[in-house]
Amino acid sequence: MMSNGERTTGASTILEVRCVSCGKGFSQGRTLGTCPACGSILSCLYDYEKAKETLTRHSLRGREKTLWRYLEVLPDIAPQNVVTLGEGMTPVVRLKSGLLLKDDGLIPTGTFKARGMAVAVSKAKELGLTRLAVPSAGNAGSALACYAARGGLAARVFMPTETPQSIVKECIQYGAEVVQVEGNIGDAGARMRTQMDGYFDMSTLKEPYRLEGKKTMGYEIAEQTDYELPEAIVYPTGGGTGLLGMWKAFDEMEELGLLGSRRPKMFSVQSEACAPIVDALVSGKEAPDPDFHDGTTVAVGLRVPRPFAGRQMVAVLRKSGGGAVAVPDIEIVGAMKSLAREGVFASPEGAATLAGYRRLLEAGAIARDEEMLLYNTGTGLKYLDLVR
Ligand SMILES: Cc1ncc(COP(=O)(O)O)c(C=O)c1O
Ligand SMILES: [Zn+2]
Repeated sequence: MMSNGERTTGASTILEVRCVSCGKGFSQGRTLGTCPACGSILSCLYDYEKAKETLTRHSLRGREKTLWRYLEVLPDIAPQNVVTLGEGMTPVVRLKSGLLLKDDGLIPTGTFKARGMAVAVSKAKELGLTRLAVPSAGNAGSALACYAARGGLAARVFMPTETPQSIVKECIQYGAEVVQVEGNIGDAGARMRTQMDGYFDMSTLKEPYRLEGKKTMGYEIAEQTDYELPEAIVYPTGGGTGLLGMWKAFDEMEELGLLGSRRPKMFSVQSEACAPIVDALVSGKEAPDPDFHDGTTVAVGLRVPRPFAGRQMVAVLRKSGGGAVAVPDIEIVGAMKSLAREGVFASPEGAATLAGYRRLLEAGAIARDEEMLLYNTGTGLKYLDLVR
């Protein structure tokens, strides 16, 4: 017996996995990374007409309180291969300021990265993969380590030396092999590619299923706001799966008849030390500078100078009528303290959304009376060195 609602039964309605650039479709029964034809991002496509027969506002009410409640629009995975720790349906709380905050600090491994890895590790298991590797600023690595442990798979994680020791130890405790690399996440990825020996590459958007797990953030926000999406969502952006995932969710929910055509303005928050998306938007470019130079920041998850999906992120931010804003570390640490003083111990990346919100208000990019949601992507408990 599940203690938190009915176990969701039914079936995935996945049709194929399709390239977002060249449009070629591939069977979801085979192992897929990037598009075999052109190297771009692959994205899952479902039979929304079929899915809408069972995935309704009414049926959702009785389902289990995990991200697996959206089974029809998740990859096809046999029940024995679903690797889960009950992730999803994290709370949305209202702050004293009136802002909504969705708190993924309260999920296995303490960050939203659990969503992507729960689904991607499950699908990897379904496809018979046994060894998974990822370059990570930290939290994707610990989420992979966690779900690999849960599913009985091997994990190898490549992390910059600046990754907080708490996260390195977390990975080791889950039994993962950890390789620490001088430099940023790009350098960690380069090292990984020289040490693949039979491991499968789980890098951000270089396999299609982490995005499917991440999109559940958008489904949950819709459900938790009674299908009245906020006017704006402020989200901390590194590699961009969260942003692209939520946007995909809103599009799918419109296809499913669960939402109308209105979308929130999406705002990305980055660190001043590494803000390639802000730079691209400000300078009117379609994609971030491929040679973008970065510096270090307390928000280690936001140090992604050359995101693989940069072009797609810039397009979503523009289309939504939102934008991007960079914040300095001192304001991030201040925002961590403000949130903690009302009970939310946020990670620097998550707290950056409050710092970003303050800047957007000041700049007049948003108004005080707009219904806004800040997305706290992780717990501050992994970053105790930032507490003075
Ligand atoms: C806590 C936290 N928030 C946000 C991000 C950035 O997420 P994304 O890569 O989806 O843009 C990361 C990435 O490492 C993270 O660890
Ligand atoms: Zn392609």
